[in-house]
Amino acid sequence: MKATSSRQKKRKYVPNLAAKKFKPTKSWLLKDARGLFKTASFPMDVDYVSFDDCVSGMRTLPENCIDMIIADPPFGLDFQIMEALYNRDSNHVVTGYTDVPAVDYDVFSDRWIKEIKRIMKKEAGVWIFSGWTNLKDILNALEKNKLTLINHIIWKYQFGVFTRKKFVTSHYHVLFAVKDPNSYFFNKIEHYPEDVWDIKRKYHHGMRKNATKLPINVVMRCIDFGSKPGDLILDPFMGNGTTAMVCKGTFRHFLGFEINAALTSTIKWNIDQVKEGEFYIPYSRRTPELVENRIASFRKKIKKALQTMKNKE
Ligand SMILES: C[S@@+](CC[C@H](N)C(=O)[O-])C[C@H]1O[C@@H](n2cnc3c(N)ncnc32)[C@H](O)[C@@H]1O
Repeated sequence: MKATSSRQKKRKYVPNLAAKKFKPTKSWLLKDARGLFKTASFPMDVDYVSFDDCVSGMRTLPENCIDMIIADPPFGLDFQIMEALYNRDSNHVVTGYTDVPAVDYDVFSDRWIKEIKRIMKKEAGVWIFSGWTNLKDILNALEKNKLTLINHIIWKYQFGVFTRKKFVTSHYHVLFAVKDPNSYFFNKIEHYPEDVWDIKRKYHHGMRKNATKLPINVVMRCIDFGSKPGDLILDPFMGNGTTAMVCKGTFRHFLGFEINAALTSTIKWNIDQVKEGEFYIPYSRRTPELVENRIASFRKKIKKALQTMKNKE
């Protein structure tokens, strides 16, 4: 009888015990992360954006040199028409967003996905953003180029458009695919990381930007789970430079391509606002609130910098 009651005592239910006991697979203290960043070396120059077509640009890179890829390709819609809906004040939108005709989207997807496969290291993963309209072309290209899909994430967010005769689209697809399903890098930094992400888009009032900016939190989530400090991350469709900003702020190196040279000063300005390691919080110490506060103070800083710039004009 005694033995049973002591066993029962031991098994007492503690709510969220597994979550409380959870430790990230890998975590680095600030000084260790900075050390990895400073000592990393690569066979080519890094931490710059090349204003070039990504396929021809990637062809100049050696095989197996990239640790992780973030790709937010053009939508394959007539986006110029839709820009007015996404960004109410078109004065703040940098012109020249380059899209791909929907009929060519399959060939386009195959061309750039073939090239990323070549430059990815064996352990590398690719995180691809896609709306649902041309999703099939991306999924087909992944299959054709023998990249293995590990997760098909739904990112739920407010789109801000209204419909009359159909549901309002309020999600995006994030595909996480790898070169080698038996040895890819994935840092489990949360106890129960679900494949539905509810992350709000913050509107950057007054900021000059390309029409389609990803939120810092979303890009950071991919980078946190998919890479280590000091790694090299490539973004073939740099847009505003969001991937580069998050890389710099989390002790990762970056490389990027962007076909629209009108974005040169926007990208440079955005990257210059971020201090090295500014967003970095060791996983063992972080909470969602800490991350949100860090990003909120960054946004405040940007707002102030923009105001100062305006006052000088
Ligand atoms: C959806 S946006 C990327 C937005 C970016 N993720 C951000 O947060 O700012 C796609 C970008 O790809 C660029 N683009 C289109 N075709 C390209 C190509 N062949 N090579 C490089 N960039 C291209 C477009 O000009 C656009 O800026």
